[in-house]
Amino acid sequence: MRVAVVGGTGDFGLALAQRLAEAGDHVVIGSRDADRARAKASETGAADGATNADAVRSVDIVVLAVKADAAIATATELADAIGETPVLSVASELRFTKSGVHPTKDDRSIAERTQEVLRAPVVAGLHSLAAVSLAGGKADGDALVCGDDSLAKDLALELASKVVSGRALDAGPLTSARALEGMTAVIVNLNRRYKGHAGIRVVGL
Ligand SMILES: NC(=O)c1ccc[n+]([C@@H]2O[C@H](COP(=O)([O-])OP(=O)(O)OC[C@H]3O[C@@H](n4cnc5c(N)ncnc54)[C@H](OP(=O)(O)O)[C@@H]3O)[C@@H](O)[C@H]2O)c1
Repeated sequence: MRVAVVGGTGDFGLALAQRLAEAGDHVVIGSRDADRARAKASETGAADGATNADAVRSVDIVVLAVKADAAIATATELADAIGETPVLSVASELRFTKSGVHPTKDDRSIAERTQEVLRAPVVAGLHSLAAVSLAGGKADGDALVCGDDSLAKDLALELASKVVSGRALDAGPLTSARALEGMTAVIVNLNRRYKGHAGIRVVGL
C-alpha cells in the first residue's frame, strides 16, 4: 500500500509511518518543510519525505496527522492535491481544564468537517492508539475505524490492522467519529489518573 502521512514529522505520524514501513508499505512523510520530512523519513525507514502537497500525490491513502487544530485548514489547502484519494482523519480536539480533559464542544467531528472541504472520501480512526505506544511497536488493543465510503474504509481497516496487536474494527458511518474523537478525552483522563497509556479492546464480538 502507498501511504502519505501528512504531518508525519509529529509524534503520532512518525510512529505510524515507522510501523507501516516495517509492514512493507511505501510510506511518504509529509511536512510543511520538505527537508524536515526527508530527515524524518530516513530516521524511520519511510520511502521518502516531501512537502505535504507532494506527499499526497500518487498514493492509495492519505493519513491526515497534523496537529488537531490545523487539520481542517490543512485539508482545505491540500484539497486539489489530494483529489479523490481516500483520507484517514486521526485528529481529536481536546480542551484541558483544571477539572480534567474534555472533548470539543463542537457538535460535529473534525472528520465530518474535513469531509466538507474535500472531494475525497474521509474516514476516521486510530484515535485510541497513543503515539508513545505505537512508537514502541504495534499498539496494544484494537483500532476502530468509521466512514461512509466502503472502499475507503476497507483501505483504512487494512492500514489499521498492520499497526495494532488486536483487530481493526469497522465502527460504522462517519458520524461515529464524534464518539471516537470524544473517546480520546476519556483515554487521556485515564492515562492521567492511572499513569499509563490506555488503549481500547472490544469484547463480545
Ligand atoms: N499523540 C497521540 O498520542 C495521538 C494519538 C491518536 C491520534 N492523534 C492525532 O494525531 C495528530 C497528530 O498528533 P501529534 O501528537 O503527532 O501532533 P503534533 O506533534 O503536535 O503535530 C504533528 C505535526 O503537525 C504539523 N503541524 C503543526 N502545526 C501545524 C499547522 N499550524 N499547520 C499545518 N501543520 C502543522 C507539524 O508538522 P510540520 O511542522 O513538519 O509541518 C507537526 O509535526 C493529531 O491530530 C492528534 O489528535 C495523536
